[in-house]
Amino acid sequence: MRSLIDILDLTVEELDELVKTACDIIENPKKYSECCKGKKLATLFFEPSTRTRLSFEAAMLELGGSVIGFSDAKNTSASKGETIADTARVVSCYADIIAMRHPLEGAPYVASLNSEVPVINAGDGGHAHPTQTLADLVTIYREKGRFDNLTVGFCGDLKYGRPVHSLISALSRYTGIKIVLISPKELALPEYIKREVIEKNGIPYEENDNLETAIPDLDILYMTRIQEERFDDREQYERLKGCYILDPAKLENAKSDMIILHPLPRVDEITVAVDSDPRACYFKQVANGKNGRKALILKLLEEAEKNPNKCVDTRDTVSIERCPNQRCISNNERELMPKAVKNKDEEVLHCAYCETTV
Ligand code: CP
Repeated sequence: MRSLIDILDLTVEELDELVKTACDIIENPKKYSECCKGKKLATLFFEPSTRTRLSFEAAMLELGGSVIGFSDAKNTSASKGETIADTARVVSCYADIIAMRHPLEGAPYVASLNSEVPVINAGDGGHAHPTQTLADLVTIYREKGRFDNLTVGFCGDLKYGRPVHSLISALSRYTGIKIVLISPKELALPEYIKREVIEKNGIPYEENDNLETAIPDLDILYMTRIQEERFDDREQYERLKGCYILDPAKLENAKSDMIILHPLPRVDEITVAVDSDPRACYFKQVANGKNGRKALILKLLEEAEKNPNKCVDTRDTVSIERCPNQRCISNNERELMPKAVKNKDEEVLHCAYCETTV
């Protein structure tokens, strides 16, 4: 059995196959309308969501399955102190597949090791959001027809923007990709992603804090929200909010076939005047996300049927005293042993739950 915790859990071939299946679902929805008859999806959302939860639920219903779950952990036994591990063990008695969002980084991974059914990471803190990447890739494929030879600009909160982390990981495996990182230095992409994803794959990249000067070269502009809820320092958020605002004037120097993506929700970083620009694809992304999630549910359920054995961690790990990331599940769930994985080619250790360099 397999879970999806990180987009790199899927090979490039598997990712391409999922995108193709999603495109087929878009063209032929009826063909898939009974594929999940008798199956149940549990949506465990410990953090707010509109798109991800509702698109998972719509996806399962449109596949002929049913849905159970919660959108507010206050109404669950987590509020009485139940651990993620026990929650996953319990819910897997009721459902065939689980989609989990959690503010603590690594929580869906812990769930996957304790669940009897596949677990999908629906966003964990500022770490990863692999099913948003499915939405992004389906949109890129439908709009640009390829994943190779693209210059992609990521703009805004690259530090906490989990969709950015997952999409960079996915794109880094294709050829001819160039990346432009547009952010204030306080919200720069985490070093471990720069070093171990971008540099390790030999992807050319530049860092630029100016959207206007970066925009003319881009094939894709990926805008992001400054994530107020992740800041420890309120004064820093107040200083940085509104630092990038995409409006029609800034688009004058962009390529005529550039596409604008945003995982949404937006605050003020894209003005509504941009919505009518044919390059604005963020609402198409929302629709594509549902179909990408359908393709994923089908794949994981099919695999679980063939191999129902529980997920196990086969990585080479070492015990550590503690993870330096306060938002890591290992610092917040009792009886969880902090551990690290050694990078294959380097001496660097990463937390086994949240990937922070330790
Ligand atoms: N893009 C995204 O994850 O949106 P929600 O937070 O509404 O699920």
